[in-house]
Amino acid sequence: MVSKIPSVKLSDGREMPMIGLGTYARSADPGQFRQAVEWGIEAGYRHIDTAAFYDNEEEVGEGINNKIKDGTVTRDQLFVTTKVWNDRHAEEEVVLSLKESLARFKLDYVDLYLVHWPFSTKNKNEEADIDYLETWRGMERTVKLGLAKSIGVSNFNEEQLDRLLKNSTIKPVLNQFEVNPTLTQHKLVEFCKQKSVLPVAYTPLGLISEARPEFIGKDVIKTDPKLIALAEKYGKTRAQIALRYLVQRGIAVIPKSFTKSRIAENLNIFDFQLTDSEMSLVDSFNINHRCVPAAAFKGLKNYPFKDE
Ligand SMILES: NC(=O)c1ccc[n+]([C@@H]2O[C@H](COP(=O)([O-])OP(=O)(O)OC[C@H]3O[C@@H](n4cnc5c(N)ncnc54)[C@H](OP(=O)(O)O)[C@@H]3O)[C@@H](O)[C@H]2O)c1
Repeated sequence: MVSKIPSVKLSDGREMPMIGLGTYARSADPGQFRQAVEWGIEAGYRHIDTAAFYDNEEEVGEGINNKIKDGTVTRDQLFVTTKVWNDRHAEEEVVLSLKESLARFKLDYVDLYLVHWPFSTKNKNEEADIDYLETWRGMERTVKLGLAKSIGVSNFNEEQLDRLLKNSTIKPVLNQFEVNPTLTQHKLVEFCKQKSVLPVAYTPLGLISEARPEFIGKDVIKTDPKLIALAEKYGKTRAQIALRYLVQRGIAVIPKSFTKSRIAENLNIFDFQLTDSEMSLVDSFNINHRCVPAAAFKGLKNYPFKDE
């Protein structure tokens, strides 16, 4: 039995569940996204994260609509997020891109629309000269048109977020970026909180995830006896400890899984509390390791991780 999932009030007054189901996968079998979304909603997820770039909006929408049709949920109980890709950053294109996403979902609106990255591209990874302030004007229009209830950003650094906050009518409600026990991001998290922008952690499992065996030598997070003992103390897995640690820092999380048991496991983090010293222990695994460096975009003007 999963304990009640807490929600957070966004700066525009709307509520968002603190945990959502992530849906990015480099490859998937036909039907796998739909199945994960259905299992997720059955397990109790009411928040689903996707993006135009993930090429799965049709299946995600199918999963959502199936669960609405069979009476498990109503549309207004769900919080659906999608994102505009870097090559649709012109003001008009932002609106068009969301209309296309909605047609793929077979939904009338999304709860949250995000600017996926602060840089703009054309012809795959080439620079396009479009300022994210222009992109944001398109985002604001999607709200006025009723296509998105809330708008926000992803992968914006402090400077980019600050500039956007100073030059926008509708403020971004959140910033979605990578945070996990090996990339703790205290500075950006605190900055977001100060500005009433909710931090949301993508890749929240980081190097704990079984999907990341490639980082040989950085696997202490998987083998450290103190972390194993901590998980055992609460009868939880290391993945659940990582998610609990993030939520306890006031960071929303969007773990992805295609595995029915893990989809349920990741939700089951609201019936225990880490002590201050246990929070510090998890913090101590920080090595500022980025699982998603977006290296293909390194040369672009608004690449957000230049200072690292
Ligand atoms: N805004 C952005 O630029 C951005 C970038 C990256 C990700 N995201 C979003 O954030 C979501 C989450 O990030 P992510 O998918 O990169 O990483 P993640 O959620 O941290 O990890 C996902 C991987 O961990 C495995 N896993 C899931 N639960 C587990 C558990 N309890 N124990 C062990 N392994 C587990 C999954 O395997 P199985 O599927 O095989 O179970 C999957 O391969 C994405 O799906 C996407 O929605 C956004």
